[in-house]
Amino acid sequence: MMFTVAIDGPAAAGKGTISRAVAARFGFAHLDTGALYRAVGVKGGDPVAAARSLSPEDLARDDLRTLEAGQAASKVAVIPEVRQALLEFQREFARREGGAVLDGRDIGTVICPAAEVKLFVTASPEVRAHRRWLEVGGDAAQVLAEVKERDERDMNRADAPLKPAADAVVIDTSTLSVEAAVAAACAEVAARL
Ligand code: C5P
Repeated sequence: MMFTVAIDGPAAAGKGTISRAVAARFGFAHLDTGALYRAVGVKGGDPVAAARSLSPEDLARDDLRTLEAGQAASKVAVIPEVRQALLEFQREFARREGGAVLDGRDIGTVICPAAEVKLFVTASPEVRAHRRWLEVGGDAAQVLAEVKERDERDMNRADAPLKPAADAVVIDTSTLSVEAAVAAACAEVAARL
């Protein structure tokens, strides 16, 4: 069976948690596509060359979840050749037998426009910054500024900007518990299986 769940949304909206839970619940494989851009961002050197030669070791680095890696990712993510170099890997992953969940910014709009389920997971910038701050610590005002800066860059780039697909179901997790957000996402998948 081929079945693709596309989960897009801004930083720290809960995409990762929801994606992992949906994948576990339905036995689907999960790809965190942000990790690809983070790996390109932290690898250094020419980003296009880095994107074309990404290895499993690049994706296993333990510094991929830092704020710096997130910023570096969103800077290389504006480069069309970088996005192009990562496209086919993502599409192949989505077509795998047994079902796949991909989370990112452009899964429902560009990578998998025919996905069976498209979710746009969002939350207010303040809520998202607070969640990220709980993970990474540091100066809360700076974490909020970085979240907003990354939103701006991701939403305003010319190639594959962050936006909900026309037929995406929006889940605003600002006031939802993790359990409620996961339940809402699983209900959308179950309704289309
Ligand atoms: O989701 P995550 O915070 O790990 O993504 C890091 C950055 O990678 C995003 O801010 C965005 O610029 C970029 N990205 C993207 N397209 C995706 C996934 C991530 O442009 N599908």
